[in-house]
Amino acid sequence: MIRIAIQAKGRLNEQSIELLSEAGIFVEANRRTLLAKANNFPVEILYLRDDDIPQAVAMGVADIGIVGRNEVEEKEFPVKMIHSLGFGACRLSLAIPKGEKYESVQWFAGKRIATSYPRILERYFRQQHIVAEIHTIAGSVEIAPSVGMADAIFDIVSSGATLIKNGLVEVEKVMESEAVVIAGKSLSTEKEAIITQLLFRFDAIARSRGMKYVLMNLPCEAVERAAALLPGVKSPTILPLQQKGWCSMHVAINESELWNKIELLKSIGAQDILVLSLEKMIP
Ligand code: PRP
Ligand code: ZN
Repeated sequence: MIRIAIQAKGRLNEQSIELLSEAGIFVEANRRTLLAKANNFPVEILYLRDDDIPQAVAMGVADIGIVGRNEVEEKEFPVKMIHSLGFGACRLSLAIPKGEKYESVQWFAGKRIATSYPRILERYFRQQHIVAEIHTIAGSVEIAPSVGMADAIFDIVSSGATLIKNGLVEVEKVMESEAVVIAGKSLSTEKEAIITQLLFRFDAIARSRGMKYVLMNLPCEAVERAAALLPGVKSPTILPLQQKGWCSMHVAINESELWNKIELLKSIGAQDILVLSLEKMIP
């Protein structure tokens, strides 16, 4: 049995639960108390504030945790990041009130900056040779300038909606972050085995995220050129059609380059293109 700490509420909560359920780990919604046991995998889920997850894992209260890299870097607890999850992308940025004249990071010299990430900000200011007043506050950082508590903020920016709502503009991106899996120093072999199994599933899920399964017909003579257009594919599946000289090709294509690739494939004779969603890619 292993215990996984995830965020109780906030940006990463839903996506963490979704990841676990895609990995076949289900916790009934009405049993989402502080600690809940999965019904079909040797796992317990511990719901915590994201800020507390690195410490919980460092202390062994949880064996692994799903948390933003920003929290890991801020807290500096002895945990290792064992896997990147590819979701929860955001950045830690400095933002100032809209309308302020801003030319360089020197703007921050002597200013008061509200943040929940004082260590990361301190490190950054040290590198930039800026001396400023850092005010650590636990939440609602974005309202600090409008109530006169600070001149600027240093906080997580994801869509940017929170900044806009509070009349702030992002001026310096200090760090990129995303959700990661963290683990403590030493675990029993039994626990290690469960974690390996889990990470294998997470990998398969990440691999298939944003991928589409594409089927098309094309003249067999165009197959080589079509394969060359899809360098990421190990080897496309080619099946003969009943109609002589025609083949069917099956490949997985990343959604981000789907239309681009489809136009190229059409230009070399591909027809009857079907794009299907792809559930899991297991290596
Ligand atoms: C962060 C941050 C902002 C919001 C920014 O909070 O504090 O409130 O996300 O996102 P946006 O750019 O999409 O508007 P988070 O969910 O990480 O929770 P926490 O800071 O309360 O732990
Ligand atoms: Zn938090």
